[in-house]
Amino acid sequence: MSLRMRINLIITTLIVLFTLLTVNIIVSDMRRSIREEMEAGGKITIQLLTGVLQGTSLVQAGRHPNEVLVQFLESLGRVRAHEIELFGADGHVLYQSPPSTYKVGRDAPRWFYDMVATRLDSMTLETGEGRVVVRPDDTRSVLDAWDDLVQLLWLLAGLLVVVNVVVFLLVGRALRPARMILAGMSQMQRGHYHTRLPRFAVRDFDEIGRTFNGMADALELSHAENQRLALVVRQSSDAIIINDLQGNISFWNPAAERLFGYPAREIVGRSATLLTPAGAQAEVEANLAAIRDRRVIENLETRRLTRAGDDLDVLLSAAPLIDPASDEVIGGIVTMRDITAQKRAQQAEADLEQNRRLTRLIQQHLEEERRSIARELHDELGQCVTAIRTIGAAIANRTRETLPEVNASAQTIVQVGGHIYDVVHGIIRQLRPSALDNLGLREALEELRDSWSDRYPEITVRMELQGDLDDLGETVNITVYRLLQECITNVIRHAAANRADVRIARENGTLEVTVRDNGKGLGERNAVDSARFGLMGLRERVEGLSGRFSIESRPGEGVVVRASIPLRPVAAVTA
Ligand SMILES: Nc1ncnc2c1ncn2[C@@H]1O[C@H](COP(=O)(O)OP(=O)(O)O)[C@@H](O)[C@H]1O
Ligand SMILES: [Mg+2]
Repeated sequence: MSLRMRINLIITTLIVLFTLLTVNIIVSDMRRSIREEMEAGGKITIQLLTGVLQGTSLVQAGRHPNEVLVQFLESLGRVRAHEIELFGADGHVLYQSPPSTYKVGRDAPRWFYDMVATRLDSMTLETGEGRVVVRPDDTRSVLDAWDDLVQLLWLLAGLLVVVNVVVFLLVGRALRPARMILAGMSQMQRGHYHTRLPRFAVRDFDEIGRTFNGMADALELSHAENQRLALVVRQSSDAIIINDLQGNISFWNPAAERLFGYPAREIVGRSATLLTPAGAQAEVEANLAAIRDRRVIENLETRRLTRAGDDLDVLLSAAPLIDPASDEVIGGIVTMRDITAQKRAQQAEADLEQNRRLTRLIQQHLEEERRSIARELHDELGQCVTAIRTIGAAIANRTRETLPEVNASAQTIVQVGGHIYDVVHGIIRQLRPSALDNLGLREALEELRDSWSDRYPEITVRMELQGDLDDLGETVNITVYRLLQECITNVIRHAAANRADVRIARENGTLEVTVRDNGKGLGERNAVDSARFGLMGLRERVEGLSGRFSIESRPGEGVVVRASIPLRPVAAVTA
């Protein structure tokens, strides 16, 4: 029952009790006053009649006393609520007072009458010639009392209705905040966490309202936070799995579904050992033990099994799941990231590095080989040619006068020897740039440029060298030198250009080499013939040093060759 109805019921009960009490008091009061009235009325009537009977007035000449009495009684009529009867000596009725005209035809209900009636006995007065009987009749008084009571009851009933209506309205108004609070709570229960209560005039309700709003704020915040977390978990690209301390899975997000192939409904409730490849049991046990000890596992590289039976390389992190109420570890939150591709890339990178090492080694051996050939050429062939020239000159000297024909042949030997000497020295220079060993990269490059200018005056070679090029190390030096040698040779041989621009710059730990010509470009193919080894060898050399190599060609506008070589400590490069 609502509070409102209850209050109304209490008020109704109180008013009814009050009414019953009042009626009780009034009724007993009525009974007393009716009795008093009847008794008093009876007494007065008897006294009056006694007075009349004793008086002389009844004795009138020639008239029977009863006749006189009847005349008196007729003039008297009814005395208050009493009926008067006169009986003769023989007992028959001589006179009877007229019936009451007051509220004639109406009577109080019988039960009410029984309740308040006086039941007084009739009184008899002997006249000598008969008797007068005075009989009290209280029905009129009782009817009056009844009418009064009914009026009072109507009044009280009216009061009851009015009081109830007023109280109902007042309580309704007073309890309106309570209803609003209730409505707010049920809104909240239905998940409308943005529900807030207004300020109330009554302080107690206002207090409740403010507390409610504070609670709603906190709830809304934590709900939003929960939703955000749920979204993160749902949309995470990492598999997120929750398992209990026995290793049984209780949560499985969509990424886990994608990664391992098990739908959540199939794996939730089952053991996480489903994902464990043979031989990894010990690791899983160790992980569970760590979780039990409230430890965190971070970025553990391990393997797991998919539903299809494939082995996955995963990066596993795990943290204990702690029940905030009991502060006990109830399970673990595990995230796993597929690093198979990463691992493959790492492997490819390692393979590439291996290749580079190999290339570097080959290039080093080649350079050494060239160096030893150059030395042999210089020391052996050079000596022999010098000897031939010296002998030729001696023969020429000796035969100048005597044997002019021999002399001419000897002269030719000296000339051819000189030519061979130049060719050998050219070859030696090609094989091993001695300037690189003696003077350093900068001078070696400038010497190279000068030799081109001498030999090919129709092509202008401009060279721009920036930054410190002194300590680049043997491998980088020889690479740059060979790069330039090959590129300019290509320009001279293939480009039909009249100009080549070389730029070598050391910038932020990298050596940038650019060779640009204004020739005809690479032609239709716009690519380098893989059967040719010049540019390909350069690419290998540069990539062997972890650098980048590119060829750009625009038909009719020339070719640009670019190399970008990272500079590492000398020791690492030569290793
Ligand atoms: N600067 C250039 N201008 C035009 N064509 C070039 C240039 N450099 C190279 N080429 C073309 O690319 C081909 C491959 O060059 P390369 O690998 O050095 O081999 P090779 O010089 O032995 O022919 C050359 O045969 C030539 O056709
Ligand atoms: Mg070439």
